[in-house]
Amino acid sequence: MGNARIRYRTELQLQCAVFLLFLMRASFGDIGYSVQEETKNDYVIGSLAKDLNLDFQVLAARRARLDYQGDRRYCGIDFNTGDFIVLERIDREKLCGQTSADKPCLLHFEFILENPLELYNVALEIEDINDNAPVFPKDVIKLEISEAAPKGTRFQIATARDLDVGINSVQDYRLEQNDNFVLDVQTSQERGRYGELVLKNALDRELHREHALLLTALDGGSPPRSGTATIHILVMDINDNAPVFSQAVYEVNLLENAAPGTFVVKVSATDKDEGANGEINYDFNHVPENVKRLFHIDQKSGEITVTGKVDYEETPSYGMEIQAEDGGGQAGHCKVIIHVTDINDNVPTITIKSAVNPIPENAPPGTEIAVINVKDQDYGENSRIHCSLPEDSAFELQSSIKNYFTLLTTAGLDREDVSEYSVTITATDGGSPPLSSNAHLNFRISDINDNPPVFDEQSYSAYVCENNKPGSSVITVRARDPDWRQNGTVFYSLLSSEVGGVPVSSFLSINGDTGVIHAVRSFDYEQFRSFKVLVVARDNGSPPLSSNVSVSVFITDENDNSPQILYPAPAGSSFMTEMVPKAAQAGSLVSKVIAVDADSGQNAWLSYQMVKSTDPGLFTIAVHSGEIRTQRDISESDSMKQILVISVKDNGQPSLSTSCSVYLLISDNLAEVPELKDMSYEENNSRLTSYLIIALVSVSTFFLTFIILIVAVRFCRRRKPRLLLDGAVAIPSAYFPPNYAEVEGAGTLRSSYNYDTYLTTGSRTSDFKFVSSYNDVTLPADQTLKRSPNQSTEERGVSENGSKCATLYFV
Ligand SMILES: *[C@@H]1O[C@H](CO)[C@@H](O)[C@H](O)[C@H]1NC(C)=O
Ligand SMILES: *[C@@H]1O[C@H](CO)[C@@H](O)[C@H](O)[C@H]1NC(C)=O
Repeated sequence: MGNARIRYRTELQLQCAVFLLFLMRASFGDIGYSVQEETKNDYVIGSLAKDLNLDFQVLAARRARLDYQGDRRYCGIDFNTGDFIVLERIDREKLCGQTSADKPCLLHFEFILENPLELYNVALEIEDINDNAPVFPKDVIKLEISEAAPKGTRFQIATARDLDVGINSVQDYRLEQNDNFVLDVQTSQERGRYGELVLKNALDRELHREHALLLTALDGGSPPRSGTATIHILVMDINDNAPVFSQAVYEVNLLENAAPGTFVVKVSATDKDEGANGEINYDFNHVPENVKRLFHIDQKSGEITVTGKVDYEETPSYGMEIQAEDGGGQAGHCKVIIHVTDINDNVPTITIKSAVNPIPENAPPGTEIAVINVKDQDYGENSRIHCSLPEDSAFELQSSIKNYFTLLTTAGLDREDVSEYSVTITATDGGSPPLSSNAHLNFRISDINDNPPVFDEQSYSAYVCENNKPGSSVITVRARDPDWRQNGTVFYSLLSSEVGGVPVSSFLSINGDTGVIHAVRSFDYEQFRSFKVLVVARDNGSPPLSSNVSVSVFITDENDNSPQILYPAPAGSSFMTEMVPKAAQAGSLVSKVIAVDADSGQNAWLSYQMVKSTDPGLFTIAVHSGEIRTQRDISESDSMKQILVISVKDNGQPSLSTSCSVYLLISDNLAEVPELKDMSYEENNSRLTSYLIIALVSVSTFFLTFIILIVAVRFCRRRKPRLLLDGAVAIPSAYFPPNYAEVEGAGTLRSSYNYDTYLTTGSRTSDFKFVSSYNDVTLPADQTLKRSPNQSTEERGVSENGSKCATLYFV
């Protein structure tokens, strides 16, 4: 076979080779052979002896040898046959490497013969056999392709190599069937057959993140050999996906006042990208600062928690945009709406808008006294306010406008009853539990002069002992007026009237402030026993109110009158003698002493006593009736003329008495009487005459002396007549009405009265008071008491005589 081939092959080759050899050196000629690589040892490539027309028997003798430059021999000569044989394995790929098909792999030998020296160049062409399969540089070809790579993008892939040449080298590539790529096999001078990966359909990392494609390289040998490699395509992510929230809007309810840290909601977004492109950070987007202070969002987890005080009253709901941003800057958004649920955390507030203070006590029921506004920051039922007052309140609340209440009086007011009201208004909201607050209002009631002074008593009775000291207090009246200040300040006055034609002010005066009634003068029971005055109490209001009360003054009797004997008439005026018949028997009524007493009661209860008699035991007097009776029969021996001294005594304390004489004549015969009468008259007349003469003389003398004295005094001390007069004349008692001071011409007060008069300033009424005590003597009785002249005469007489009819005091 080798021989056959060499022939038609070598012709051209030889020509060239020979030409080359001849050019280089002078040699006997070149000869060429070919042999397939990997041929077994001793394989006969050709017969050198034959081809060179040499006798193979001389070969040994001529020391023929085949030289190959290098340490290997590959081929040799069989001296026995003169054949050119393979001595060891020949690997074309090792010897020549990657040679192209048109550049043969040649081994050059020098065939040398000695004796004579002959040299032939032997060229051995090593023919290729398909002993190598195509090989890829790596079993796995890694490709990273961005998913953004457009369709048609080409990717170079490593070519497979086949050590064989020519047709035995790589002839074709095949790519495993797939959706995304096709293989475009091309041939180039430099690279030979190679394939390019062409993107048929765009990649989506999110769909398939990697692809493994089997690439097969085929050579042209027969049978062909193949080599494979796996193309591992990693689809590179691009940030082609924005984060997407699971919900577009998150709506949650949150109780107000939720504690910090309370979980609100968790937003969550996904990003299909990977790595940084898929890493999501959550954050608020365009959320006002104040909201940011209240909530916190965890950047990684998307959990929103409370960080501040969530107050429904401030903001009932929060809407905020949340942004999820991936590492590549793509962002997704969602909305979080937080509805704050109201909690009844606000106490109602009560504001007093206006209040009438003080309230006039005459305000009619239903008067508006305060306007109240209530408020509750909470919502709905939590802010529905109910206002109330304590049950016993004197006021009521009315609501006319929402959240406004008016406080009204329900009844008439009376400052004198309740002068101040404290009202507690309670506002309660409708929450559960409800919250409430209180407001306290204090109202004062202002006074109206609606109460007249009222006297403690319906009427007053005063008992005054007669002969009282002027100025002594008689009684104190008191009226009360519950009104305030001047509306309740009471002044007293006497209502002017007359008692028996005399103004009442001459009897009594009243202290306007204290209501103490004083007697202005001394009273005499015997003159009048009682009188009535009206005392007016007036307050200082405007207009003033007043009331009056009657004060009855009862003058009580004092035993100041001696009994007064009416019969027998006192001696002197008409001498009276009772006739007693001689035959009068024991117990017969002889006479009766009749006496009266101006006093009353016990003071006028008279008892009669016989203090002296001519013949004691003959007459007796009845203690109470004053009847004089004979005690025994009258005898002849009894004296004709009987004188009895009778004492009449009243029952007062101390008692007063008066005595008188009763003349009795025991006789039956009236004829005897004149005698007796005359005698007694004569005796009496003569005595009386002498008395008269003496009196006349002494009076005349006294009068003359008096005249002379007056004339003398007038002459000497002309300038001081009044003083003398004042000293001499006892001024009759007079009373001085209040506020009145009688002033004499000389400008001095009446010396006999020490009035201390004053006008009380600032008061409507005025008063006077007695400072010094009074001399009883200065108030002669005859000014007030109309005594009978008889009695006064008798009294005077008694005092003059001192013995005959004495006024006796019995203790
Ligand atoms: C007294 O009453 C009158 C009305 O009658 C009133 O105007 C006045 O303020 C009252 N005075 C006092 C001190 O309350
Ligand atoms: C005294 O009071 C009564 C009623 O209490 C009245 O009718 C009368 O007019 C009053 N008298 C005088 C003088 O004021």
